[in-house]
Amino acid sequence: MTDLELIKKAMEARERCYCPYSDFPVSAALLSDSGKVFTGVNVENASYGLTICAERVAVGTAVASGERGFTTMAIVVKNGGSPCGACRQVLNEFSPALRILMANENGDLVRETTLEKLLPEAFGPHSL
Ligand code: THU
Repeated sequence: MTDLELIKKAMEARERCYCPYSDFPVSAALLSDSGKVFTGVNVENASYGLTICAERVAVGTAVASGERGFTTMAIVVKNGGSPCGACRQVLNEFSPALRILMANENGDLVRETTLEKLLPEAFGPHSL
């Protein structure tokens, strides 16, 4: 699975975003160590604070399928924005060295980084 293919998976998921309140679709595609792809979309709620981010939906879906190690996550968001702090923490639980690809709404790669750079000195399983 190439980076471009992973971004394409996130682009395909984008149409399934449920974001009637913010009108700000975010979609993600997470590549597992075993080569499987799990997608996620933001899922909003009339009780706004219950919204779940796309990245966390992808992680939850993957873990529920038995995957716990990941190499790369592609995120598609307007202007190629970066994952929120809560999602960084949840991703860190499983793959601190995760590569993160941020693509814009056209599927163009805007920035590539790693979770270690986005969440330095993280609190994780080894901190306990
Ligand atoms: N959102 C995500 O899905 N991921 C992020 O990392 C940041 C924000 C969603 C939540 C909400 O549905 C919308 O974007 C606006 O905040």
